[in-house]
Amino acid sequence: MVQRSQLFLLLVFIIFSAIAAETENQDYVALLSLKSMWQNTPPNWVGPDPCGKGWEGIGCTNSRVTSIMLSSIGLTGSLSGDFVMLSELKTLDLSYNKGLTGPIPRSIGNLKKLLNLILVGCSFSGPIPDTIGSLRQLLYLSLNSNQFSGQIPPSIGNLSSLLWLDLTDNQLNGPIPISDGITCGLDMLLNARHFHLGQNNLSGTIPPQLFNSEMPLIHVLLDGNQLTGSIPSTLGLVQALEVLRIDGNALSGPVPSNFNNLTNLIQMFLSNNKLTGPLPNLTSMNLLSYVDISNNTFDGSDVPPWFPTLQSLTTLIMENTTLQGQIPVALFSLPHLQTVVLKKNQLNGSLVIGTTHSNQLKLIDLQLNSISDLEGKEAYNGTLKLEDNPICGVKGNLNSYCTVSLSNASYSTQKVDCEPVPCNSDQISSPYCRCAYPYTGSLFFEALSFSDLGNNTYYNILEESLMYSFHSHQLPVDSVSLALSNPITASSEYLEVKLKVFPYGQVCFNLTGISNIGFMLSNQTFKPPPPFGPFYFIGDKYEKFTESKKSSRSSIVIEVVVGGSILLLVILLAGVYVLHTKKRAERAIEHTSHFCVGWFSLKELEKYTNHFSVANEIGSGGYGKVYQGSLPTGQLIAIKRSKKESMQGGLEFKTEIELLSRVHHKNLVSLVGFCFEKGEQILVYEYVSNGSLKDSLSGKSRIRLDWMRRLRVALGAARGLAYLHEFANPPIIHRDIKSNNILLDESLNAKVSDFGLSKPIDDNEGSHVITQVKGTMGYMDPEYYMTHKLTEKSDVYSFGVLMLELLTARKPIEHGKYIVREVQETMDKTKHLYNLHEFLDPAIGLGTTLKGLGKFVDLAMRCVKEPGSDRPMMVEVVKEIENIMELAGVNPDANFTSTSASYEETSKGNSPNPGYPYR
Ligand SMILES: *[C@@H]1O[C@H](CO)[C@@H](O)[C@H](O)[C@H]1NC(C)=O
Ligand SMILES: *[C@@H]1O[C@H](CO)[C@@H](O)[C@H](O)[C@H]1NC(C)=O
Ligand SMILES: *[C@@H]1O[C@H](CO)[C@@H](O)[C@H](O)[C@H]1NC(C)=O
Ligand SMILES: *[C@@H]1O[C@H](CO)[C@@H](O)[C@H](O)[C@H]1NC(C)=O
Ligand SMILES: *[C@@H]1O[C@H](CO)[C@@H](O)[C@H](O)[C@H]1NC(C)=O
Ligand SMILES: *[C@@H]1O[C@H](CO)[C@@H](O)[C@H](O)[C@H]1NC(C)=O
Ligand SMILES: *[C@@H]1O[C@H](CO)[C@@H](O)[C@H](O)[C@H]1NC(C)=O
Repeated sequence: MVQRSQLFLLLVFIIFSAIAAETENQDYVALLSLKSMWQNTPPNWVGPDPCGKGWEGIGCTNSRVTSIMLSSIGLTGSLSGDFVMLSELKTLDLSYNKGLTGPIPRSIGNLKKLLNLILVGCSFSGPIPDTIGSLRQLLYLSLNSNQFSGQIPPSIGNLSSLLWLDLTDNQLNGPIPISDGITCGLDMLLNARHFHLGQNNLSGTIPPQLFNSEMPLIHVLLDGNQLTGSIPSTLGLVQALEVLRIDGNALSGPVPSNFNNLTNLIQMFLSNNKLTGPLPNLTSMNLLSYVDISNNTFDGSDVPPWFPTLQSLTTLIMENTTLQGQIPVALFSLPHLQTVVLKKNQLNGSLVIGTTHSNQLKLIDLQLNSISDLEGKEAYNGTLKLEDNPICGVKGNLNSYCTVSLSNASYSTQKVDCEPVPCNSDQISSPYCRCAYPYTGSLFFEALSFSDLGNNTYYNILEESLMYSFHSHQLPVDSVSLALSNPITASSEYLEVKLKVFPYGQVCFNLTGISNIGFMLSNQTFKPPPPFGPFYFIGDKYEKFTESKKSSRSSIVIEVVVGGSILLLVILLAGVYVLHTKKRAERAIEHTSHFCVGWFSLKELEKYTNHFSVANEIGSGGYGKVYQGSLPTGQLIAIKRSKKESMQGGLEFKTEIELLSRVHHKNLVSLVGFCFEKGEQILVYEYVSNGSLKDSLSGKSRIRLDWMRRLRVALGAARGLAYLHEFANPPIIHRDIKSNNILLDESLNAKVSDFGLSKPIDDNEGSHVITQVKGTMGYMDPEYYMTHKLTEKSDVYSFGVLMLELLTARKPIEHGKYIVREVQETMDKTKHLYNLHEFLDPAIGLGTTLKGLGKFVDLAMRCVKEPGSDRPMMVEVVKEIENIMELAGVNPDANFTSTSASYEETSKGNSPNPGYPYR
């Protein structure tokens, strides 16, 4: 009897605990099943609560697992059937795990909520299961660079929401499926913008039904297959088309005459087929910039009249296309022209390059023609290839244009004004000369609008847009470097650009960082900037993860290997029981550990501050008073006690504590604890010994800040702020950056304080929040003041004002004069110290060379630009100040005391410089 009642009690527990559990048991069991099938799962995949305890790579909503993002972490194993119990899963990204093998289970069709199925660059094989057609909500299907074989399942046509279909670089064969009233086909994908089916073994024709005028397709990539038959004229109806690759097949027949209706086409590859008939008429395709129609058997033809009319053309490749006649000189005057390859034709007469040729022209390749004369060579600096033309005569003509020369373009990201540092072991020096373990991989561009691979401008654009993308997705990236490893010559190959991504503020990424970066590239969240066309990324395995915190509950880890679902019930019971035990333990500590900081009783704080005695008072203001105290451990603390009238509501107070307890950075004052008792609102901070920057600038704290110290203070404050903007989750806008709120510790490290007005930005609010205008006059962003739209750029404005304050030690508004305007009006870049002598604080060390002062002023001026969009991001400001310091010969990361032998603490009384005019 006793046993039976115990069992009953257990069941009751189970039922109640199941309700309180943070992870649905079904999902937990599914993840256990995956874990049992894989090696190299994240080390923190222990304990029974993936959602509550934050298993890395697992995302949850309302106790249900909604995303699995685990790219580039070296997973090996296969996909097990049980993972399909994750019935709320929206995103599955397992890209760049070469060790994942075997087929995709048919049961994948049960994941009905799936939006993103992304398995790029793994080793999956076997046919793509037709059950994939049940994933009706799917938006992104990326299975490229695996070893899938068999036919494209017609059921993909059911995925009516699909935007992106990428099956590139597999071993798929058979026809491109189209619907016939009974089975489905790709022609039903009326929302798709991307058909990427290149580099497979697809055969049969390109069905005319595949295309219609309703389709918003912008990329059609069918290159490198075995397609036969003619190009359907329906392709000419796809008005949105920007990139067309059907090269490297066995297509025959003429190019449809309606092709020149594709007026949005930018890149067109028809090469290496068996196309016949007249040369296509490309007149009026005014955006066309890259054309390759080489190696076809077109009718012999004179140079077509559209040659000199395509104003956007950068690249014209028509090798072996039976062209005859003379090349019109006007062709070379097309303003963006870079490359002309017309080799293996019957071009004759005189080659006239002309003096007005495009200044970007780098290559004219006319080998194997009948050209007998050359004019205007003098004005042309690029490569000219004329071997095997009459003009080169018999073999042995040594004119440079008559000898085969190989020019290889190469590129690698340059260091940014910094001294290269030797890195130990396998670390690599970043463009900012910091040693770290970068995440590496290759970007493969399937089409480009340019061909001058040696022009660095393009890679610089790519670097910038990658960084922009990383920053706007709040990824912890410091910098990227690119290298062109293996320059291509034949246009049918994809351009491979090696990518290294360096971690921000650390030596290595953690697993979450890698997964998020991997997802940005696998999910095509990153859109390459215009001269670059469609791409895919293949990441390398990342080996050097920062140690993630192991679950503290490893003592109750249960490791169960579940193959089938028979054990399900047993596991449910076990899982639930463990959850229950855990819950009970947690509940006991909930009161104190709900926040990540300590809770103090009013009694304790009274003890630590000598009953809030006047002697302990270190500051006061509208909000109340700040007291110094010390904990029993000896740690000094600053206690901010709000006045009754200035108190915020309980909810706001709680929000502030939650916000503060989440941010940890050496340039932010950290919260030690709080007290919320008997109507008091008290915050307990770490004690920062040298007071506020304002006190130093005004002379009150009698700390002298020379130019180097000011730079260091600016850098510290900027880093703290950049952390709030970029790495706090959700991002936080401080809203009250000013010299009173920058504190200096014993080594004069700056710490940003006072988050009373700070505002977190929730995802659903977009990039700005509309708020009641708060802040301090003089520091306040005019745009925010007028529009009430608060963005990070408002803090950047205040920071700019703070920079001017650092230079001048003046209040932003003094005697009715606004410092921003005064500096703007007085500064003159051509004069010594930008003509700002009268403004500079003499304590800055006016006699000394103020290295980098000009750049510092320039940066401040960019920060206070009127439109927020013109101001730099805080991460850029950090970089720029670091650069200024490096130019001035100081290591921004060196400890202050070690580089500043001249530091003299003057707070003990006698100033070493008695005449010093403190304000
Ligand atoms: C070309 O496109 C226009 C619409 O942009 C359409 O009206 C016209 O019929 C098309 N011409 C051919 C030949 O397809
Ligand atoms: C090419 O197309 C343009 C307009 O689309 C037309 O005016 C021209 O006659 C065509 N040229 C040939 C050779 O068919
Ligand atoms: C020219 O193109 C045709 C058609 O693709 C091809 O069969 C032939 O081999 C090519 N000739 C040369 C010399 O490349
Ligand atoms: C044309 O065909 C020849 C011979 O197959 C090949 O070497 C060349 O790379 C092809 N040209 C282009 C532009 O694809
Ligand atoms: C490099 O490319 C840019 C952008 O197309 C162009 O403005 C610039 O003139 C090019 N530089 C050279 C040396 O061709
Ligand atoms: C050719 O190159 C020389 C030296 O590299 C340069 O000074 C000149 O401006 C170039 N001319 C043209 C037309 O690009
Ligand atoms: C991973 O790193 C990011 C930023 O560097 C940090 O916000 C996050 O908390 C880290 N995650 C874990 C589990 O350590």
